[in-house]
Amino acid sequence: MSSSPPRRGDYGFDAPYAPIFMALGGACLLALCLWRVWDGDGAEGTRNRISILAPGLAGLWLFLNAGSYVYTTRAGKFAVWADLLDRLALQGDERLLDIGCGRGAVLLMAAQRLPRGRAVGVDIWSATDQSGNAEAVTRRNATLEEVTDRIELHTADMRQLPFDDGSFDVVVSSLAIHNVPGAGERAKALREAARVLKPGGKLAIADIRHTRVYARELEACRLKITERRSLGHRFWYGIGPWAATRLVAAIKPENT
Ligand SMILES: C[S@@+](CC[C@H](N)C(=O)[O-])C[C@H]1O[C@@H](n2cnc3c(N)ncnc32)[C@H](O)[C@@H]1O
Repeated sequence: MSSSPPRRGDYGFDAPYAPIFMALGGACLLALCLWRVWDGDGAEGTRNRISILAPGLAGLWLFLNAGSYVYTTRAGKFAVWADLLDRLALQGDERLLDIGCGRGAVLLMAAQRLPRGRAVGVDIWSATDQSGNAEAVTRRNATLEEVTDRIELHTADMRQLPFDDGSFDVVVSSLAIHNVPGAGERAKALREAARVLKPGGKLAIADIRHTRVYARELEACRLKITERRSLGHRFWYGIGPWAATRLVAAIKPENT
């Protein structure tokens, strides 16, 4: 069981166009199915029955995907990150960096575990990647979660972090790095994450794509990968394990 209090902030929807397209697609297919029933198509014959059932089932499938997506973005990801933060076994005085913090879903939960520490968020505040994304919104959420004095927000690109080498005990990132276009550019972001992590520090990245490549890049930065796994159905952005978010966890050895 995780130790997170109920969320009081409003954290928006990740990539909000995605569930909208799923629901619209589902509605169109169900409408087509109903129209074929009403039109009398399919009254006889296997082919006609298939022409009714196929769009009906595909429409339901898209609705289920939209439902799974909305559940994950509004509830599931919070439950999973609460567990991940607990597993980091924070002492309460760490400096933690959240790369691509958005409206603060992970950043503020981390701040609640850092009574003597600091939770630092960087973002470019893209409202395509998260609905209503803005620094002011994250600050308002920090006030609602009562952690204003424990956080710092920076407007910065994750490929060029405005921090010294080894300045964080913990680096986390949730669903952000895949938004950087191009493998080479994502590698830059990962090298930055590794650079700002202290020797002995811990890193945890959750993302929906490319996690195998992230692990390779982090190893090339001499981090030791401790886990790479699916984060389970609570973090599926759709129905099925192919829509899963995966974790890459690592530590930076003391002698680096
Ligand atoms: C899907 S949102 C996730 C936000 C937050 N981590 C969460 O889990 O709720 C992705 C975030 O990555 C940010 N982002 C995208 N490209 C970025 C970049 N190059 N540098 C910093 N942040 C970036 C977006 O602005 C957005 O806030």
